[in-house]
Amino acid sequence: MTGHSHSHHQHHGHGHGTPASGPVEHGVSADAGVAQHRARSLAIPAPGRSVVRVELDAREVDWAFSPDRLTRAWGFNGQVPGPVLEARVGDVLEVEFTNRLPEPTSIHWHGLRIPAPMDGTDMVQHPVAPGETFTYRFRLPDAGTFWYHPHANEVSQLERGLYGALVVRADDEPQLDAERVLVLDDVKLDREGQIKPPGGWMEKHDGRQGPVRLVNGRQEPVLTMAGGQVERWRIVNASSARYVRLSLGGVPFRILGTDGGLVDQPVTVEEVLLVPGDRVDLAVGPFLPGQTIEVTSLRYDRRTIARSRNERFATVQIGAAASSRATIPSKLRDIEPLTAADTAPTREVHFGVRPSLRTVVKFVVNKQPHHRDRPVKVGELQVWELVNDTLMDHPFHLHGFFFQVLSVNGQPPAFRSWEDTVNLPPRSRVRIAWKADDRVGEWMYHCHILEHHESGMMAHFEVVS
Ligand code: C2O
Ligand code: CU
Ligand code: CU
Repeated sequence: MTGHSHSHHQHHGHGHGTPASGPVEHGVSADAGVAQHRARSLAIPAPGRSVVRVELDAREVDWAFSPDRLTRAWGFNGQVPGPVLEARVGDVLEVEFTNRLPEPTSIHWHGLRIPAPMDGTDMVQHPVAPGETFTYRFRLPDAGTFWYHPHANEVSQLERGLYGALVVRADDEPQLDAERVLVLDDVKLDREGQIKPPGGWMEKHDGRQGPVRLVNGRQEPVLTMAGGQVERWRIVNASSARYVRLSLGGVPFRILGTDGGLVDQPVTVEEVLLVPGDRVDLAVGPFLPGQTIEVTSLRYDRRTIARSRNERFATVQIGAAASSRATIPSKLRDIEPLTAADTAPTREVHFGVRPSLRTVVKFVVNKQPHHRDRPVKVGELQVWELVNDTLMDHPFHLHGFFFQVLSVNGQPPAFRSWEDTVNLPPRSRVRIAWKADDRVGEWMYHCHILEHHESGMMAHFEVVS
């Protein structure tokens, strides 16, 4: 993209809008307010369900991530992570959000299939200015583990602690003995123990990965769990760039769900990869009383400059045995394939780099930073070949819609699932299929390594009827 300056905007160097073709000046459309108002009034609970009202604010907080460490952070409702929001499928979630930060922000509902005007990006709303309030209101269509985070100045806002989990339940969930939500993150501190401001060429290349590993905002916590029980762990990777190759010290566990809710049947594994933005629901246990389980991230070489190692996130101490009533059905749900695995792509999307004087490289989509992709028609099958032309991994995230992975370098995935985030290994071709339901408007996809997104490895497009 040439002849188009990105430097005069506050967010990641650009704004957005609807161009006819070629480079255009972006910007939220003039009738965005009308569209938001309309979306709010059309959000009605399903029969028998209700409106879940929540007040959220973003503000500065003294964050005690370990007993002897206090750092100045930003949190939702004064905590890191923000509160776990819980609701049921068919409920309407109404969030009155107030920005008490010194800079503009917004909330994106990662993974939710909600109307475009509520997506929280700079395509569909002006960032919420300091002191202002914005109401998000939408119906929750799917059960699963989701999360929320700003979609403005993400590189520093997420690192400072602005993120939280959102759990949506269905009536027919598998019954386990207990459930916990584990939000994973890491931070990088300066000598005074404060969050280091973002920057540096290595961080721009690798994405920021901090040595302090956090579970629910605490550094390598010790958790306790009853012996003999099976728990459901809902795990969110909220870190800027860290690939978490999750292991419980080699003990097998079962995958029950991923980004878009339950998988078709439980999958027994000894490790699972969570790229930034990813979620996974696991059935964990049963363990013996007195056992100690280490929750670690195994070495994963995503071809960064910094080297990867095995690193601990948490320790789980198994207490006295308790009775178990956990039942995990062998079939969790039906997931019909959208299309045959070898269906020819309807579009190819290239993820690449190009040299840049300022930052060594720029991360781009189809050779352009902040690319404008072709529209997508409601109901039309999309088969996208995501081509990673680079020598490092990129976590691809599609806003607002779930997709199925058809193949990774020609190989079918290990199990059937709905996803909104998928890893693109170095020099790979990942084929996905999806279909836009009737939610027209401005959407986007991007690499969820926040520094790559900021640099321009993203595209926006319109869903049209
Ligand atoms: Cu969680 Cu646009 O992202
Ligand atoms: Cu962009
Ligand atoms: Cu990337």
